[in-house]
Amino acid sequence: MPEFTNPFIGVVPRKMTLSELTRAIRLDLAAEHEAVHIYEAHAEATDNELAKKVLLDIAEEERVHAGEFLRLLNILIDDEEKFLAQGADEVNEMAEDTPNNTHQQSSSVLSIGNLKKSN
Ligand SMILES: [Fe+2]
Repeated sequence: MPEFTNPFIGVVPRKMTLSELTRAIRLDLAAEHEAVHIYEAHAEATDNELAKKVLLDIAEEERVHAGEFLRLLNILIDDEEKFLAQGADEVNEMAEDTPNNTHQQSSSVLSIGNLKKSN
């Protein structure tokens, strides 16, 4: 639960190092994913069409925020994109071996799988 009555909550005595900043950004990224989950769950839990529409609209905005934090991590950390691409490649390989896979592979991450499909 937020502690809005404490004016010093979140105030730190110094600037963060790069390592501390990147860990903070990972927490910020996790918070965006948590927000998406909460808003989508609340939208599914109501029959009020306006509330559902607003909640799902905000959930999409949080997904944009998650993308911003992810991009920021990719800029701040030299090998972040390499590890993300490695993970994407591993899932792409599993997707190719999975029958009835209904999700399309992302074309934003080049992989051997993507290159095979484009030929
Ligand atoms: Fe957000």
